[in-house]
Amino acid sequence: MKCGAVIVAAGCGERLKAAKPKAFVMLGTKPLFQYSLDIFLAHPQINEVVLAVPEEEVSSFSKTPYKIVKGGATRQESVTCGLAALSPDCEAVLVHDAARPFVNAAILDRLIASLAQKKSCIAAWPVSDTLKASQEGVITHTIDRSSLWAAQTPQAFPVAILKQALSKAAKENFVGTDEASLVERLGVKVHLVIGDAGNIKVTTPEDWTLAEAVLKRPL
Ligand code: CTP
Ligand code: MG
Repeated sequence: MKCGAVIVAAGCGERLKAAKPKAFVMLGTKPLFQYSLDIFLAHPQINEVVLAVPEEEVSSFSKTPYKIVKGGATRQESVTCGLAALSPDCEAVLVHDAARPFVNAAILDRLIASLAQKKSCIAAWPVSDTLKASQEGVITHTIDRSSLWAAQTPQAFPVAILKQALSKAAKENFVGTDEASLVERLGVKVHLVIGDAGNIKVTTPEDWTLAEAVLKRPL
């Protein structure tokens, strides 16, 4: 199975409030996007990698062992741009947010094993907080969390399925917060694969501080 990866790094990082796009801010010794990119490039079963970046960053890359594409106005559009740049013989794809720098090879192994059986799948982690539904600031009920999972990335699909899901969503003006939600709308089963509690998404300045602390922790 030929397997590619699309890493989306084209967001502006509004909530982080940094001077440049989030994925390009230095975290320790390298820009945020480089952490996950290095994991994908080093994985023996990933045959090619596409990185979607903001238009103004495209020229900052010269010759690379991965493809650079200009992203779109939404995350979903950036995924579409990245997917279009994959080789035509690529059968399966892992989509990943550059905002999750601590993805690891074991998560990729689990997703690829599931893909090999033609199963769409996402990395996810069981919810551990007690969840409350509310109306006007007052709890209406407590939600049973036993069947609830927090979706992470990577999310992995046969390329044809993801392309079909993206074009249906575009046609119907549906914007999802992840790829699985688009594939679910096709009626295709999406399986959960154990992600990692450490596979955090860096969104706010507080998350950034946490990511710096993770980097500095003794191994
Ligand atoms: N992303 C993208 N193209 C967009 C929007 C988001 O490639 N038009 C990417 C981001 O670069 C990030 C991932 O999607 O790696 C998840 O998005 P998010 O964490 O929301 O990042 P930003 O959109 O950059 O941040 P914000 O929403 O705070 O502006
Ligand atoms: Mg965003």
